[in-house]
Amino acid sequence: MSCYSRVKRYNEAMTDQNTQQPMSSALRIGDMAPDFEARSTAGPVRLSAYRERWLILFSHPADFTPVCTTEFIELARQADEFEARECALMALSVDSLFSHFAWLRLIRDRFDVEVRFPIVEDPTLVIGRAFGMVAPKDNDSATVRTTFFIDPAGVIRAMTCYPANMGRSIPEMLRMLDALQAIDAQDALAPANWQPGEPLLKSPSQDLDEVFAAKDGTDWFLRETKKGKRT
Ligand code: BEZ
Repeated sequence: MSCYSRVKRYNEAMTDQNTQQPMSSALRIGDMAPDFEARSTAGPVRLSAYRERWLILFSHPADFTPVCTTEFIELARQADEFEARECALMALSVDSLFSHFAWLRLIRDRFDVEVRFPIVEDPTLVIGRAFGMVAPKDNDSATVRTTFFIDPAGVIRAMTCYPANMGRSIPEMLRMLDALQAIDAQDALAPANWQPGEPLLKSPSQDLDEVFAAKDGTDWFLRETKKGKRT
């Protein structure tokens, strides 16, 4: 069975048998990202071929729309930053491959930016639905701005969802990636507003002797690691 058929089967299983409406994807942090194969602006892609590096898979509502255009320009400008973190980018929308091509040509001509990361076509929304990128009861075929951070083992480690009328923050995408990589590398926790180079937090002690021996009342559960470092 092809990867694409597997996603289709998954989608059938996700259909409400009474209403025949697709149910919301049950994907959660910690799940394996469903595999798929599809056409993209960079040729055929298969999600599982990205194992052993990080992957940010993200959907956008439609080509030739203002907010999406600003996101793609900014992501292409920051492509080296993602590459430096060994993270691939992969975009997806319902638009056809030829719409994607025409949009990228216009972005190149008008803004002097070449978008080289793959943009997947998903005309049947089979992938978008498998990933919960489409509101289940929405008659609109557009996907929302969902972003999946997928680790080198193919596990979904974080996801965000922005509305169609608000663009994502590319610095925040990089910060999330930095945080995920840093907590993996140091087996630690990232505190609020963490930035690369700042200390992380140690996991709380699970040993009562350590709790009693702690210097103060918080020292056993709220402790910084030594200086944070980029992976
Ligand atoms: C936009 O990218 O500008 C956009 C897309 C869909 C709905 C509204 C805005």
